[in-house]
Amino acid sequence: MLKIVVCVSGGGTNLQAIMDAIDSGKITNTQIIAVISNNPGVKALERAEKYGVPGICMSPKSYPDRAAFNEAFTQKMVELAPDLVVLAGFLVKIPEQMVAKFSGRIVNIHPALIPSFCGVGYYGLKVHEKALERGVKVTGATVHFVNEGMDEGPIIAQKPVMVEDGDTPEILQRRVMEQAEWIILPQAIDDVANGRLEIVDGHVRKKA
Ligand code: GRF
Repeated sequence: MLKIVVCVSGGGTNLQAIMDAIDSGKITNTQIIAVISNNPGVKALERAEKYGVPGICMSPKSYPDRAAFNEAFTQKMVELAPDLVVLAGFLVKIPEQMVAKFSGRIVNIHPALIPSFCGVGYYGLKVHEKALERGVKVTGATVHFVNEGMDEGPIIAQKPVMVEDGDTPEILQRRVMEQAEWIILPQAIDDVANGRLEIVDGHVRKKA
C-alpha cells in the first residue's frame, strides 16, 4: 500500500481528483495518510476533513523565519513517513532537506508543458497569463519528480490542451485542470503505487 501525503495551498481540486480516483479504483494500492496546507481555512482542508483524513496547516508565517519553517515542515513529513509526497497546487518551495530525505519520492503537478512557462515566478494563474501573452496554441500540464531545482526534476507525464480563441487565464486554467491535471496526476500516482515506473539515464519510463 502506497502511503501518500498531499500538500495543498488552495482549492484542492487536484486533491479531490486523487480522492475520487482512489474511490473509483482508478488509483489502487494507495492511501492518503494526511493533507498539509500552508494556508489555513482553504477549501482543500475542507475536502480532507470530508474525506476523513487529517488536515494539517503549516504556514511559513507561523515561524520566525523560513529556515525554522523548513525544519519543522521536514520534521513533520519525516514523522508522517509517507512513501510518496504529492504536491497538488502547493505554492511553497520544498526545503532542500526534505528533497534530500525524500529523494525520488516527491511528485509535483505543474500547469504547463515543462520546460515552457515554469521556474521561479511561474505558478497558478500566472502560468496561463504568460501562455496567453506568448500566444501559444497548445499548452497543458506536467507531472514530474521534484529535485533541488524549481520544476526541473524528471518528467513523469504530460498532457496537451488546446488554447482556444477568447480564452482568459481563468478559462484556460480550468480547461488545463479538467483536461490534463485531474487525469495525469492520479495516473502518475497509480503508476508509482504499482511499480510501473523506472528512471533510466535521468528519464522516467514505464517498465516493459
Ligand atoms: C492548479 O492549476 C495547479 O496546477 C496549480 O494551482 C492550481 C490550483 O490547484 N499549482 P488546486 O485546485 O488547488 O488543486
